[in-house]
Amino acid sequence: MSSILLVSTDAALARSLGESMKAAPGFALAVHAAGVEAPVDPQQLAQAQIVVVDLDAGRRDHLVALQAMMMQSSGQTFIVVLSEPCSDAVQRWFLQIRVHDFLRKPISGADVLAACARLMRGALEPPTDHTQVACFLPAAGGVGNTTLAIEAAMQILGAASDKSSVALVDLDLHNDACADYLDLEPRLDFAEIGESGERLDAQLLEAMMTRHASGLALIAAPSVAGQLRQIQRAAILRLLDTVAARFENVVIDLPRMWSAWTDDILLGADRCFIVTDMTVPGLRFARRLTEQLNARLTMKAPARVIVNRFEQRFIFGSGLKRGDVAQALGGAFADAIPNNYQLVREAIDQGVPLETVKPGNNVSAALRRLVLARPQEERRAS
Ligand SMILES: Nc1ncnc2c1ncn2[C@@H]1O[C@H](COP(=O)(O)OP(=O)(O)O)[C@@H](O)[C@H]1O
Ligand SMILES: [Mg+2]
Repeated sequence: MSSILLVSTDAALARSLGESMKAAPGFALAVHAAGVEAPVDPQQLAQAQIVVVDLDAGRRDHLVALQAMMMQSSGQTFIVVLSEPCSDAVQRWFLQIRVHDFLRKPISGADVLAACARLMRGALEPPTDHTQVACFLPAAGGVGNTTLAIEAAMQILGAASDKSSVALVDLDLHNDACADYLDLEPRLDFAEIGESGERLDAQLLEAMMTRHASGLALIAAPSVAGQLRQIQRAAILRLLDTVAARFENVVIDLPRMWSAWTDDILLGADRCFIVTDMTVPGLRFARRLTEQLNARLTMKAPARVIVNRFEQRFIFGSGLKRGDVAQALGGAFADAIPNNYQLVREAIDQGVPLETVKPGNNVSAALRRLVLARPQEERRAS
């Protein structure tokens, strides 16, 4: 039996956690309803395996109380902090004082319980690798961003041992390209998950995703024709947190237009590819965009450019070769993907992945090389 002590004045959260625990017989709950400001009974603290502390990270007295609680608890107790999004400095401090997990509010009881269960499991098993997130950002319209994002997801899936562990998330909310290209119904409903995504949990996510025959999970919302969609940053972040908790590999199709949440997505991604075509303005803009992004944001790995629909042809008044394209992009060149109009066209019209149309085609092969490259190889290549 694992006992959880919830330190929170949030009665709704306590109720929701209590509800979720009915289905989890291995857990027992105690609640310190006076919150972090009121001292916790040392005996209650000593009995808990996991202490979940709900606090306001902007309040120094709350942080001091957390620290006191940590000093009081034994080294074997897991401490989980719940707070609204907070500054990097405070998050670093949580790491330094060895908080075991940090969860963003608003959060459901089911998600708190899932985090506790993860901690308890982690205490027994070595940690598994975290979710790998790759995002695709177009430098211009119609450069093939969606085509490459889908194919990248398919290649990652092809290499994965668990065929249900890969998700494609369509954040280009103003068309249904991912769903259309795969001939699937988009089922994500932003109205139902709530303004800031507060109603979304693992179960609802399961109901709102669509499975492709290959096993790929598509997370996409139907577009509303002629309407500009403004989804709250909190809802998008919560969506991605929930997706990342469920899947080992996530591929994101980002829109060209910047939103309030675009930076967050890029910062959370392990890899970011800027997709451009082979036009001179396309290459120039992709280089500028990549350089600016890499200067402005400290991403896990620098963004790099994929040149799509590559072919040897006359541009700049002379034959433009792969090496010239790489040079035009400075150090940001990731790879070139061949132009194969007929193949891509056929795949889109049939609503199937490229390899269903033609196994071993040159576009899939080039993407496979790129997305399955080990990080060292990538570093060498760039
Ligand atoms: N490698 C490629 N070779 C030939 N045509 C391509 C290739 N990649 C994409 N296309 C075509 O480019 C068009 C735009 O693709 P899409 O993936 O929808 O771009 P975006 O998401 O950037 O708007 C589509 O008609 C698609 O068939
Ligand atoms: Mg697209």
